[in-house]
Amino acid sequence: MASSSSPTRLLLGLLLLLPFAASASASFPSLPLSTSSRWVVDSNGHRVKLACANWASHLEPVAAEGLARRGVDDIAARVAAMGFNCVRLTWPTYLATNSTLANLPLRWSLERLGMRESVAGVRVNNPGLLDLPLIDVFKEVVSALARNSIMVVLDNQMTTPGWCCSRTDGNGFFGDKYFDPEEWLNGLSTMATMFRNTKNVVAMSLRNELRGPYQNVSLWYRYMQQGAEVVHEANPGVLVILSGLDFDNTLSFLFSNPVHLSFTGKLVFEQHWYGFSDGGNWESQNQNDVCGMVVGFIKMKGLFLLQQGWPLFFSEFGFDMSGTHIGDNRYLTCFLSVAAEMDLDWAIWALQGSYYIREGTLAYDESYGLLSWDWCTARNPSFIKRINALQSAFQGPGLPNSQETYNVIFHPLSGLCVLVKYLKGLELGSCGESNAWNYTSGHELVLKATGQCLQAESVGEIAKLGTDCSKSNSRWQLISNSGMHISTEHTKDGTRVCLDASPDGAITTNLCKCLTADPKCNPESQWFKIILSSKGITGGTSILQVPSLGPWSPASSSS
Ligand SMILES: *[C@@H]1O[C@H](CO)[C@@H](O)[C@H](O)[C@H]1NC(C)=O
Ligand SMILES: *[C@@H]1O[C@H](CO)[C@@H](O)[C@H](O)[C@H]1NC(C)=O
Ligand SMILES: *[C@@H]1O[C@H](CO)[C@@H](O)[C@H](O)[C@H]1NC(C)=O
Repeated sequence: MASSSSPTRLLLGLLLLLPFAASASASFPSLPLSTSSRWVVDSNGHRVKLACANWASHLEPVAAEGLARRGVDDIAARVAAMGFNCVRLTWPTYLATNSTLANLPLRWSLERLGMRESVAGVRVNNPGLLDLPLIDVFKEVVSALARNSIMVVLDNQMTTPGWCCSRTDGNGFFGDKYFDPEEWLNGLSTMATMFRNTKNVVAMSLRNELRGPYQNVSLWYRYMQQGAEVVHEANPGVLVILSGLDFDNTLSFLFSNPVHLSFTGKLVFEQHWYGFSDGGNWESQNQNDVCGMVVGFIKMKGLFLLQQGWPLFFSEFGFDMSGTHIGDNRYLTCFLSVAAEMDLDWAIWALQGSYYIREGTLAYDESYGLLSWDWCTARNPSFIKRINALQSAFQGPGLPNSQETYNVIFHPLSGLCVLVKYLKGLELGSCGESNAWNYTSGHELVLKATGQCLQAESVGEIAKLGTDCSKSNSRWQLISNSGMHISTEHTKDGTRVCLDASPDGAITTNLCKCLTADPKCNPESQWFKIILSSKGITGGTSILQVPSLGPWSPASSSS
């Protein structure tokens, strides 16, 4: 009896687990990943868009942040719940090359740094991890992410555990005090081998933010090529990701001199873009002028790689989530417009709401963190909604509807797109439900399948759809240095107007805001990007036909 009841219970347990296991594995793409021109693709050649959060595990304790605050599975589940499909998980070289460190139990690692409260927190939230060696804690974090269908990019952030990055921390470039190329290659090989059979480890970022006085382009080629070969030999399944120079702000040297590797289909570049490091002065200059100028720099420094047919991963961007930093707010909207237009792969800095210890401060608050200081809530819930449209692909091979390409009109301030709503005119809504527009060579914004086009009436009025697209109020130019004002000067009375999204989401035409010069005025409600999409149109098919029927037609009132 006892022996028969236990398999029954086991079976019951399996049945209960099954739906979760099945749904979890169902949402991984078909792995491993590879590249196809500028796209990262799954094993069927379908685009996989990396929408990642950075999760630090490279500071002094050498453990993923937050384990004293929340259960590791709870954290991984939050990553998934916020819509991310991947984590860029950081590690210091010593985790792979110093076995004394790798075998140090998490408890001791925290205690040696005097962090008794963190020990108590891990005991409560992750009791099973407390006495595991640091390397096993790292593997458990990867496993928890796998259970939640989250892909992992392993990122070699530093050699020595600690906050990154400064020019003088001895971790900046090959030959620096703590940056021995041989040790680095050994560390990469060890990590690549360790995760060879770990399906959700899809990529390795070879070294974060190369920098400092020893930077040297010819050594960059020598060692990055060696690092890529070492990783590929140990683990041919992973993508290899190469960082640029100057804190990963520039890859411009690649413009005319590509890297040479023995393998193909696995190489990705990474670039970082923060508001504080892009050469623009977001707070003191006109926002259109700065965005236009900075995007020009970003193109020269790295975006050109997409045009050359290489994948480029924006593996760090971030902003002060309190929303009170004006420069960061302005930069963010500009960044999101480029992320939409180029349909970038990206990783936000950062998941962690706080650190065990950072730069000597215990329980350091991460103002750029997606999570709050206590890891309990989202620091900025509206940002999670705003980034949602950029978490899935607009373009690329294998999308459900990839034979048909159309335009969507993206509004980076809200993260929404311009939709046609029956009776209500045009308004902002989910980009997944966007109508198919065509921004034609004659500068008309035509609603495909109906032939109707966007028209301006007059200042302050809702933008309308009309049928006579040859009328001059149907021609829309992209103006200002940001190129994000959609404008016509052919209203009834000849005034120049710009498309504008009002706070309730209605699309109106208003006087154009702060096109240039004025540093104080905020144009973001009038910023739109007309981007390419070939997503399947999931909604709005009935809406497409309605405007031609007219709202008060006898047919609709009798039904
Ligand atoms: C290895 O790590 C241990 C523990 O942090 C440290 O005491 C030791 O100095 C390290 N060894 C080397 C060679 O860095
Ligand atoms: C870069 O390194 C190479 C090879 O060691 C050396 O010949 C060259 O002088 C270095 N360049 C600079 C600018 O330091
Ligand atoms: C827009 O229409 C033109 C002319 O019909 C066509 O050549 C072009 O491919 C269309 N573009 C998009 C994005 O739909």
